[in-house]
Amino acid sequence: MSRRYYITTPIYYVNSVPHIGTALTTVAADVNARYQRMRGREVFFLTGTDENATKVAEAAEAAGKTPKEFVDEISEEFKRIWAGLNIRYDDFIRTTEERHIKVVEEVWRRLLEAGHIYPGEYKGWYDVTTETLYSESELVDGKSPDGNPVREVSEPGYYFRLSAFAEPLLEHIEKNPRFIIPETRKNEVVSFIKQGLRDVYITRENKGWGIPVPGDESRVIYVWFDALINYISAVGWPDGDWESYWPAAAQWMGKDILVRFHATIWPAMLMGLGLPLPETLIGHGWVLMGDKKISKSLGNVVRPLELAEELDRSAGCGPELAVDAVRWHMVRTMPFENDTAFSMEEFQGRYNSELVNILSNGVHRVVSMTHNFCSGTVPDGALDEAALSQVRDALARYHAEMEAFRFDRAMDAAVEVGRILNGYIDEKKPWDLRKQDDSRLSDVMRTMVWMVRAVEAVLRPVTPTVADRLAALLNLEPLAEFSVLDGDAGVTPGLKLAQPQPLYVRLSAQKKEEGKEVREQPTQSQSSPADDTITIEDFLKVKLRIARVLDAAPVEGADKLMRLELIVGDERRQVLAGIRPQYSPEDLIGRQVVLVANLAPRKMRGYESQGMILAADGPNGEAILLQPDKEAPDGTSVH
Ligand code: MSP
Repeated sequence: MSRRYYITTPIYYVNSVPHIGTALTTVAADVNARYQRMRGREVFFLTGTDENATKVAEAAEAAGKTPKEFVDEISEEFKRIWAGLNIRYDDFIRTTEERHIKVVEEVWRRLLEAGHIYPGEYKGWYDVTTETLYSESELVDGKSPDGNPVREVSEPGYYFRLSAFAEPLLEHIEKNPRFIIPETRKNEVVSFIKQGLRDVYITRENKGWGIPVPGDESRVIYVWFDALINYISAVGWPDGDWESYWPAAAQWMGKDILVRFHATIWPAMLMGLGLPLPETLIGHGWVLMGDKKISKSLGNVVRPLELAEELDRSAGCGPELAVDAVRWHMVRTMPFENDTAFSMEEFQGRYNSELVNILSNGVHRVVSMTHNFCSGTVPDGALDEAALSQVRDALARYHAEMEAFRFDRAMDAAVEVGRILNGYIDEKKPWDLRKQDDSRLSDVMRTMVWMVRAVEAVLRPVTPTVADRLAALLNLEPLAEFSVLDGDAGVTPGLKLAQPQPLYVRLSAQKKEEGKEVREQPTQSQSSPADDTITIEDFLKVKLRIARVLDAAPVEGADKLMRLELIVGDERRQVLAGIRPQYSPEDLIGRQVVLVANLAPRKMRGYESQGMILAADGPNGEAILLQPDKEAPDGTSVH
């Protein structure tokens, strides 16, 4: 069996459901997994739930449920939320599963036999919120160092001989620069170990919840000791082909659970078992609200799916694209070394400036122009190598950052690909080439379509639905591996593109503020209008939208009338217009027009006209159609 690229997230406590802070770890791991699959690696992505904690039993009691009922429900809720966020894991482990429990017992037996676990008395303080034990000297004003309440513990139990592993751990960290990232956190780990590692107390009194100590039913195994083992129990250690998975390539977590757990106890347990250590532990920063960590206990939670629903309501992009926008924001602003504060303004701002203006509009311009200038078909041109090499430079940066787990920076390179595309369009001006019947138009058009394929590729790990829509617009299979961009990526002459459909539409200030702007306009009494003036409220009653002509045909028996089929955002409209003397169907198909979208429908010559398109009256009364100065997403409102 070939080596897998094995990725893990922490397994989540089931006392509450994810917020954007907890979801960040899983989204990052999912991006990691999707990216590596596109590098052609065989990926195994594991997540799951940590169900044996004391606080889980307490949360169940508070909810009036048995712990079993409670963990079953919440772990399902986690799966539902991950599905909603388009997380594609390969396995979901629950620590109450038999396959996990039997491995925990085996680990216990082996470590006990090797003398790494020994019985002893414990006296100290227990923080139930984080399931962490502290000695008297570690408490700050009678609370845990994080400020959580603690309770006193004094009991017999078992210890793990962590102290014995300090030297080998330091040596391993020294020799493997990629073992702990980012660098600042590695330094924290090193100084924590150098302060001296104490043996860890790894059992609790058995109160009916948790994994009992093999051979001593009066105790259960400390939840952290049990939970860390999930990373090997899920791959079937010590049986089967676990060696094709372990050691993991990337273990993701927030910084709060790196130093004390994943970078000390966990590798020490592995060393005690004679197992290799994971290649990389990534301890990212926190998502903050203001200057505080987002956390359920602080009551400042933003939930990712709710954020997506809100965006869908205001931008009308549909739930799946809204989820992609949330994923985009989480990755783009991902705290790595430092923490980052979540802000709604930044979320909406990036949506407009990156997803709409650069990526979505760039793609839309290409697809529309292919329809307007080349009947929707990729012409028989040559790919412009100079332009391609610019994109390939950005791709090289993208890959370097992705491999270094700096997904936030990799997305800079993704935006750069969009910028290169827009810059190319502006520089080459395909509309002029077409007017001048310049044969270079074919090269430019094919190159632009290739660039859309590159945009699809770089976005795919973070915004998979957007990427699928782009592939569908190109009428190509979703791009499975980056290596296809070494060639023409399927953008061959004759490829017929689908009809242009904008992905994301700009959030106007009006939508953002839910009509606040409209309400702030002066009222009639303040503006004292003359007879033929209207107020802004009057004007805003007219809903003007950008529409694209999908089809046009003369109306039989009417010299002046043309029947147009328009696309307005997601909607189709039929409109009759008196423009036949000036425009032929060929002039019209593919171009953008301005539509009065809320005009009452009217029957004309047996057809219903569902709106009116705007035209200026020429000197001889002829129609001169209005058109936006440059391509605007279909459906955009006009004021
Ligand atoms: N059950 C343990 C992990 C055991 S792994 C063997 C646990 N669970 S947790 O549900 O409390 O936290 C899971 C992850 O969410 C951690 O990586 C933690 O750092 C992360 N985060 C929780 N709040 C966060 C933010 N506000 N910001 C970023 N990450 C945050 O710990």
